[in-house]
Amino acid sequence: MKAIRAIPAHWWKTSPLRPIAPQVWSEQRPTYGQARPQLIEAALRSASQRPSGNWFVLAASRDITAKRPFGTTVAGVEIVAWRDTRGLLHAGPGACPHLGADLATARVHDGALLCRWHGLRIDGRCTPRWAPFPAHDDGVLTWVRLDTIGREQPTDTPILTARPADTRVHAVITLTGICEPADIIANRLDPWHGSWFHPYSFAHLDVTRTPRQDDDRFLVTVTFRVTRHLGVPVEAEFTCPDPRTIVMRILSGEGAGSIVETHATPAGIDGDGRARTTVVEAIIADSARPGFRHAPRTLPLLRPLMRRAAQRLWRDDFSYAERRYHLRTQGNRTPVHPNRTPRTNEVC
Ligand code: FES
Ligand SMILES: [Fe+2]
Repeated sequence: MKAIRAIPAHWWKTSPLRPIAPQVWSEQRPTYGQARPQLIEAALRSASQRPSGNWFVLAASRDITAKRPFGTTVAGVEIVAWRDTRGLLHAGPGACPHLGADLATARVHDGALLCRWHGLRIDGRCTPRWAPFPAHDDGVLTWVRLDTIGREQPTDTPILTARPADTRVHAVITLTGICEPADIIANRLDPWHGSWFHPYSFAHLDVTRTPRQDDDRFLVTVTFRVTRHLGVPVEAEFTCPDPRTIVMRILSGEGAGSIVETHATPAGIDGDGRARTTVVEAIIADSARPGFRHAPRTLPLLRPLMRRAAQRLWRDDFSYAERRYHLRTQGNRTPVHPNRTPRTNEVC
């Protein structure tokens, strides 16, 4: 802190960084009284009732190319995706209609898939035995529409959240864990865990608005830690535009307008009967600072840093979501709440 005091006053005027008042982790104000399970469940219920149009996030737009096919599984359905010579996105069933070869192992030739087993050509158009799925590229992420899985009223495009006008400064991470999409959304609908569970990233987190009736909107004030003693204070909002997406938007402070879109895509059921979910998270940065116009040029350096910070959070958040799934599916959930502490024996 001595070094911080030595920094000239004019530097503080232009810098987004602010000193973080020292705080011992164990001496923070506990938040379990505010993080009421009923409130989180009600917000999750409200989010789960939003329409999705049957769209599921596949991957980062940059990860699907015209060089090789991209293979993944959504809700147990094998999907293959690729781009043609014009860069147009195609997606469809991942099994070759001849003898079932994995089309993720096909070659892309002249904008079409060539099956590795016997050379069947799939150019993305309907054939009697292979029909494409509707696919959408929003410039940051790719989506696929699966009507037999979603079983909702289909829409022409996914339900997209408002993004910064220029989305070039973005990074996308993809991770898979043992849980359901609701566990991922529920994790983010509990903003109170921020400074307790991720003290390396957040300090002085206060939830200033909680969801009202039929609403899933949270407001928080928080300081993003840059170093142990320096951070960036902001006000942020959490909302769910569709049942498998939660968006954090910076409303005021440095980076106002920046968003973090967290999409939870069900992958399928593993060999032990457990649900697997893939998180595709897009971090899209924005800033009113004049210097931000140079940011796209620094992307080769910036992207790995953005990814590393998001991955570190998700290592912890997956353990939260997986634990929530485990308790729910094992049927032994025992919420700890001041008014609902379970009495398990006569000593208590
Ligand atoms: S399995 Fe694809 S061409 Fe035979
Ligand atoms: Fe978290």
